[in-house]
Amino acid sequence: MIKIAIITGSTRPTRVNKQVAQWAYEKAKERSDAAFELVDIAEYELPLLDEPLSPFFKQYTHEHTKRWSEKIEAFDGYVFVTPEYNHSTSGALKNAIDFLYHEWENKAAGFVSYGGSSNGTRAVEHLRLIMGELMVADVRPQVALSLISNFEGYTTFRPTADHESQLYIMLEQVILWSTALKSLRSPKVEKAL
Ligand SMILES: Cc1cc2nc3c(=O)[nH]c(=O)nc-3n(C[C@H](O)[C@H](O)[C@H](O)COP(=O)(O)O)c2cc1C
Repeated sequence: MIKIAIITGSTRPTRVNKQVAQWAYEKAKERSDAAFELVDIAEYELPLLDEPLSPFFKQYTHEHTKRWSEKIEAFDGYVFVTPEYNHSTSGALKNAIDFLYHEWENKAAGFVSYGGSSNGTRAVEHLRLIMGELMVADVRPQVALSLISNFEGYTTFRPTADHESQLYIMLEQVILWSTALKSLRSPKVEKAL
């Protein structure tokens, strides 16, 4: 079965991110056409990128990198749950993405974002550029949440039925593309590419 990781995008101690990621995970788990896992970047305690070689060479020296690599490698697709920090994604998520390279390749991704003034859409636009370099196929449907109207007191997430259907549509596409791309990752095709 296709495996999709729902990846958190904030490590702040008072983050709202985990609530959003948990919601996406609980809703995703109701589906029977893919297996989902919540992957919390905070649990990997990644420092600022500290590998001597570029991840392109996949010669990792640190246990935290090896653990992160093994986790991310195991999935066919990803849902990034991102806040908007200064019109982009968070440094913590960018750093976690930068740690790896081939692990992301030829897979699909979707986004759930949130923010105060544009519902995190600028963060997602930046993530889409990053996905291009990593050869990740990012789907058009996304969930964009307002910190002002979808979070009580800017802290407690109150999802609506509309958000649920947006999430459903986005997941549908991530599963379709993750399935389609799987054939590209067979050892035979990888050797030919
Ligand atoms: C460093 C920083 C920069 C921010 N920049 C933006 C921004 O550019 N646009 C926006 O809509 N919200 C911005 N915010 C507000 C965040 O979206 C809001 O604090 C949100 O709760 C952060 O996600 P988190 O709680 O999961 O870490 C910023 C917050 C921080 C901490």
